[in-house]
Amino acid sequence: MSPGNRGTWALIFLLIISTLYIEKTSSSSLDPFAAKKKRMSDKVRRMFYHAYDNYMTYAFPHDELKPLTKSYTDSLSELGNLNLEHLPQEYNGSALTLIESLSSLAILGNHTEFEKAVLWLSENLTFDVDARINLFECNIRVLGGLVSAHILATDSTNRLTKGMYRNQLLVLAEELGQRFLPAFDTPTGLPYAWINLKHGVMENETTETSTSGCGSLILEMGALSHLTGDPRFESAALRALRKLWSMRSSLNLLGTTLDVETGEWIEYSSGIGAGVDSFYEYLLKAHLLFGREEFWRMFQSAYVAVQKYFRHGPWYHEADMRTGRATYWQLTSLQAFWPGLQVLVGDIAAANSSHREFFYVWQKFGVLPERYLLDHQMLHPTEKYYPLRPEFAESTFYLYQATKDPWYLEVGESIVDSLNLHTRVEGGFASVRDVTTMELEDHQHSFFLAETCKYLYLLFDDSFLVNQNYIFTTEGHPLPIKSSWHERLPEAYYIPTMTYLQSEDQPRRASAMSLRICPAAMPNCINNHHTLESVCHIPDARVDHRCLNDEDCGVDSTSCRRRSCSMAGYCGLWLSI
Ligand SMILES: *[C@@H]1O[C@H](CO)[C@@H](O)[C@H](O)[C@H]1NC(C)=O
Ligand SMILES: *[C@@H]1O[C@H](CO)[C@@H](O)[C@H](O)[C@H]1NC(C)=O
Ligand SMILES: *[C@@H]1O[C@H](CO)[C@@H](O)[C@H](O)[C@H]1NC(C)=O
Ligand SMILES: *[C@@H]1O[C@H](CO)[C@@H](O)[C@H](O)[C@H]1NC(C)=O
Ligand SMILES: *[C@@H]1O[C@H](CO)[C@@H](O)[C@H](O)[C@H]1NC(C)=O
Repeated sequence: MSPGNRGTWALIFLLIISTLYIEKTSSSSLDPFAAKKKRMSDKVRRMFYHAYDNYMTYAFPHDELKPLTKSYTDSLSELGNLNLEHLPQEYNGSALTLIESLSSLAILGNHTEFEKAVLWLSENLTFDVDARINLFECNIRVLGGLVSAHILATDSTNRLTKGMYRNQLLVLAEELGQRFLPAFDTPTGLPYAWINLKHGVMENETTETSTSGCGSLILEMGALSHLTGDPRFESAALRALRKLWSMRSSLNLLGTTLDVETGEWIEYSSGIGAGVDSFYEYLLKAHLLFGREEFWRMFQSAYVAVQKYFRHGPWYHEADMRTGRATYWQLTSLQAFWPGLQVLVGDIAAANSSHREFFYVWQKFGVLPERYLLDHQMLHPTEKYYPLRPEFAESTFYLYQATKDPWYLEVGESIVDSLNLHTRVEGGFASVRDVTTMELEDHQHSFFLAETCKYLYLLFDDSFLVNQNYIFTTEGHPLPIKSSWHERLPEAYYIPTMTYLQSEDQPRRASAMSLRICPAAMPNCINNHHTLESVCHIPDARVDHRCLNDEDCGVDSTSCRRRSCSMAGYCGLWLSI
C-alpha cells in the first residue's frame, strides 16, 4: 500500500470507529443508565423553558411571573419586605427573572437567547430607579446574576456571544455595586438591610438587619472587585464580614438579627436556616473562590460550633448564642441546603443522613413544607407553603456528584415528578400555598429558574462542570475558581494530582466537587471511603451520634489532617492543630 492509501485507510477506519462511537453514544443505543439521565435532563430542560417562555410572554420586562393569572409582579422591591412597607410609587421592574435566567441559559447552551438577553439588558436596564430594595436579595439575585453571566460570556469556550460582547453586563454590575456602597456607611461597617437605588439610605431607615444580610455579600462583591479592579466592593463586604465575626459569642455562635448602628445583637437565637444560612455557606465558598486562610479559619470554627450546639442526630435545631441551649426545634425548608455545604467540606456521611430525613419529609407531603415543628411532630400553623425552593434539589445534586450513588438520581426524579404534578400550570410553575391541600399561589419566584431548574438539570447532566471548577453562589449562579483570584492557594490544593493547579487554558477533568474530596494519591491520606467522612462525622450506627475516640473521626478531606474526638463527643480538627 502506498502511503497515500494507508492514509485513506486510516481515515476510513477512523470514520468507522467514530460512526460506531456516535452510534453507541446516540440515544438509540445508550446504556439504560445514560438513557435515563438523558431523558431526565430533557424533562428538566422542558420545565425551565415552560417557566421561562411564560415569563417572557406574560411578565417580561417586569420582575416575576404570576402563572395563574398570566400577569406580572414588580417584586424586586418586595423581596424580604414582609409587611410591604415603603413600596415605590413608580417602578416597572428590572427584568429580574431574565437576569436570574442568564446563567441557566448558559448551562443549557442557549446562545441565541443569552445573546438576545444581553442586548436587551444593556440597552434597557437601569438602576437609576426610585425603589427601596433589600441589599441581600438584590446582591444575590441581580449582582450575582450579572457578574456570573459576565464571566460566562467572556469565557470563549462557552461561545455564548458571537464577538458582540462588550462587557455590558459588567458595566451594569458595577453601576449596581456603586449604588450598594452607601449602605455600608455606618459606624460599624455593617450595611443597612435596605437601600433606595436612586437616593441611597432613606431617612429613618430601620437599623435592624440579619446575619445573612451582613455576611453573604463577599462572593458577589469580591468578584466584582476582581473584575473591575475597584477594591471598594470587596473591602466593604470584607469589613462587614469581619465585624460580624467579631460579634460571635465565646461559643463561636452568632445570633440571627442585629443593629447596624450599635453592632448589638437583637435576636440571640440562631440555627442554620432563615437569616443565617448563607453566612456559613459564604465563609466556605469565599475560601474556595479567593483562597484566603482567614475565611477557612472562620468557617471551621463556625462549622464546628454548629455541629456541637445545633445538631441533634440528622436534625438541626436552634440555640441561644450565649449559652448554647436549644431554643426552637424546627425543621425548615431552607435548612435543606446544609447537606450540600457538608459535601463541599467532605462530610458525606453527615450530609447523607440529613438529606435522607429531608427526603422522608418530602415524600410525606409531596414537597417540603416551609416549617415543621419537630417537638410537636406537626406543621407550623402558618408556614405550610412551598415556594418552589431549590435547597433540597441542590443537596441532592452535590451528594450525587460526590458519591455517584444512583439513588440520588431517583430522589431527583421524584422531585421532578412532584413539581410537574403539583405545581405546573398552563402559565408556568406556581408556588404551593398549603402543602396539605396543594392549593397554589400566583407566584413563580425567579429562583425557580436560577436554582431549582439548574440544580435538577446539573444532577442529570453535569457536562457544564467538566472543564472548569465552579462554586455556586447562594442563588445558584456559578463563579469559576481561578488561581489568579487566589491571594495564596490554600495548602490543601498544592497537590500534584489535583487538576486545580494546571494552567487555566488547559482542559481539566476535575469538577468543582472533586476538589473537595481527598485525592487518591495523597500522602498521609487513608485511601478508603472513610476519608470522605469529615469534620464532625459520627458513625451512623451510634445512637447518640457522638464519637468515643479518635478512630471514629477519620480524616478531614479539605486539609487531609486526622481529626480527633473532643470531650463533648464530636469529631474535629481543633484538637489536633
Ligand atoms: C411605568 O410604566 C407606566 C405605564 O407604562 C409609565 O406611565 C411610567 O412612566 C413608568 N414608570 C417608570 C419609572 O418608568
Ligand atoms: C433558546 O430559547 C428560546 C426561547 O425559549 C427557544 O425558542 C429556543 O429554541 C432555545 N434554543 C435552544 C437551542 O434551545
Ligand atoms: C429595549 O426596549 C425597547 C422597548 O421595549 C425595545 O423596543 C428594544 O428593542 C429594546 N432593546 C433591545 C436591544 O432589545
Ligand atoms: C423621621 O423621624 C422623625 C422623628 O420621629 C420625624 O419627625 C420625621 O418626619 C421622619 N421622617 C420621615 C421621612 O419619615
Ligand atoms: C447513605 O445512608 C444510607 C442509609 O443509612 C446508606 O445505605 C448509604 O450507603 C449512605 N450513602 C452514603 C454515600 O454514605
